[in-house]
Amino acid sequence: MCGIVGYVGNRDVVEVLFKGLTNLEYRGYDSAGMALRDEGEIKIFKTLGKLINLKNELENRKSELIHPVCGIGHIRWATHGSPSLVNAHPHTCNCGRLVVVHNGIIENYKELREELIKKGCKFKSQTDTETIAHLVADEYAKAKNLEIAVRNSVKKLQGAYAICVMHKDVPDVIVGARKHAPMLVGIGENENFIASDTPAIIEYTKKTIYLDDNEIAVVTKDSVKITDIDGNLVNKKVEVLPWEPVALSKLGYKHFMLKEIHEQPDVIRNVLNGKLFDIDSPIILNEVKIDKDILKKLNKIEIIACGTSLHAAIVGKYLIEDFAGISVEVEASSEYIYRKTTTDASTLVIGVSQSGETADTITAIKQAREKKSHVLIITNRPDSNMARLADSLIPVNAGIEVSVAATKSYTAQLMSFYLLALHLAEIKGSLDKEYIKNLKHELIQLPTKIEEILSNTSVIQECARKFSSYKNFIYISRGVNLASAYEGALKLKEISYINATGYPAGELKHGPIAMLDETMPVLSILIPGGITYEKVLSNSEEAKARNAKLIALTSSNDKSLDNLFDIVIRIPSVSEILSPVLTCVPLQLLAYYIAEFLGKDVDQPRNLAKSVTVE
Ligand code: G6P
Repeated sequence: MCGIVGYVGNRDVVEVLFKGLTNLEYRGYDSAGMALRDEGEIKIFKTLGKLINLKNELENRKSELIHPVCGIGHIRWATHGSPSLVNAHPHTCNCGRLVVVHNGIIENYKELREELIKKGCKFKSQTDTETIAHLVADEYAKAKNLEIAVRNSVKKLQGAYAICVMHKDVPDVIVGARKHAPMLVGIGENENFIASDTPAIIEYTKKTIYLDDNEIAVVTKDSVKITDIDGNLVNKKVEVLPWEPVALSKLGYKHFMLKEIHEQPDVIRNVLNGKLFDIDSPIILNEVKIDKDILKKLNKIEIIACGTSLHAAIVGKYLIEDFAGISVEVEASSEYIYRKTTTDASTLVIGVSQSGETADTITAIKQAREKKSHVLIITNRPDSNMARLADSLIPVNAGIEVSVAATKSYTAQLMSFYLLALHLAEIKGSLDKEYIKNLKHELIQLPTKIEEILSNTSVIQECARKFSSYKNFIYISRGVNLASAYEGALKLKEISYINATGYPAGELKHGPIAMLDETMPVLSILIPGGITYEKVLSNSEEAKARNAKLIALTSSNDKSLDNLFDIVIRIPSVSEILSPVLTCVPLQLLAYYIAEFLGKDVDQPRNLAKSVTVE
């Protein structure tokens, strides 16, 4: 989604802002812009589409720049008003002396706009952001102080915002403010940064201050002042970022997505590290800060998440119910927040999110907190807003994920659920000790098995080549792999724009079977040794009888499958309950290769954003 970076210091401002925006690019955007303070003037550059266009614009107008020392940059993902040059940020007030960039949505912008129009403001765009520019300019005219003008303005804003403001009459100062949208200040030597997310500044500094809601930052080259909404100084902790800049490099892979898929074995080792020592020792999950006696008696868990994280949550439900016998409800955050839930102080609420910034999940978590539930967050971003709302926090340690389509963060979330479910089972004594040992043994083997899958992808590539021209797919499975079917289909939709649906195999005959013919490939996930294999096989036969093309994803060595299915993608042998960690990998690769063959923008699919900070 939108991204912000601001800089004041002695480096090449254009370069710092451009790099910052490039490192936020993965979040998804449709236009970009910069405002630079140069020789007492504010100069604005905006373009539609990718950052390369902004680069060209800056190059073409190079002669206009003398020595910029301060600037703000933005990438926009359209919410109010189409993606267009006029709607791109930065936005200005009537006289152009004040510029603003903004992430989020101002809910009362229409009322504010009406009032400002009455005062003589002339609006050029359809955005909610332009309202902020006029509003702050109006307040500045009264207060003659940018910090106070921003403070007085944000008091009038309803909704979510992270904003950065510069004014021609206030040299080399950036004022930032936030509410329900992330913003941080990066601290340097004789230079400072402000940004909506850490990748924007990681190349220059690891020292950061995270702003909280209703805080205002005044940033100059050698000072950072943070105040609350009433103007009181706030003493903030300087934190050190956990990421390395190298995390933002493709390391020779064609796309971040492929790199991230290949990182999964190490990610799993990371998740297990320090938590699962050997098969005879209990799982160590000190992150769960609930008294063991309370955990023993726990009889309801709710898991809330969006997108891929929701699929990890579905696997989580299956595991917790199976291992620990605790009833679990899973719901999309965007539905949970509009329902009268029965959540109460005795409910454990688990929020799952790669980014830790998804607006719907944050709202859902806040609702759960109001009901006094213990909130456990599973996230890849321990520095996120969601993490700050947690009573217990399990960081999944997958490393920064750049590709919009989530891959390694999904496997890391799955692994966290295996550990959590086993931890609960050990506390409750709900599973046979030998069974637990076998599971632990197999969990430790998973990275090697994924390495085996990654070492030979020829069948997956053949499958991608054969099926890339099909317009619709159905992915089916049963049991713990139903979520794998949902996730595999989502991956294909996201990056190749092919219509793919994950469906419970048993439900095929209750509707979707009507769509089956030779134009509809059915991908079946079949793991032998468990309770679902034969049934999914029968459902695949039913599809075959309707002339559907069949793809199998299986750990079975049964040669007769090669007669029934058009293509059989084989994975190493694995017990059904652990198989989602393996089945997701060929499905990620299949989506990847199909998108690649179709020439799609794999890492930044159209219309999608890496972290969705609006409801
Ligand atoms: C966006 C991304 C998805 C992601 C979803 C939830 O839609 O494009 O890949 O699964 O948000 O994000 P979260 O960060 O909460 O896991």
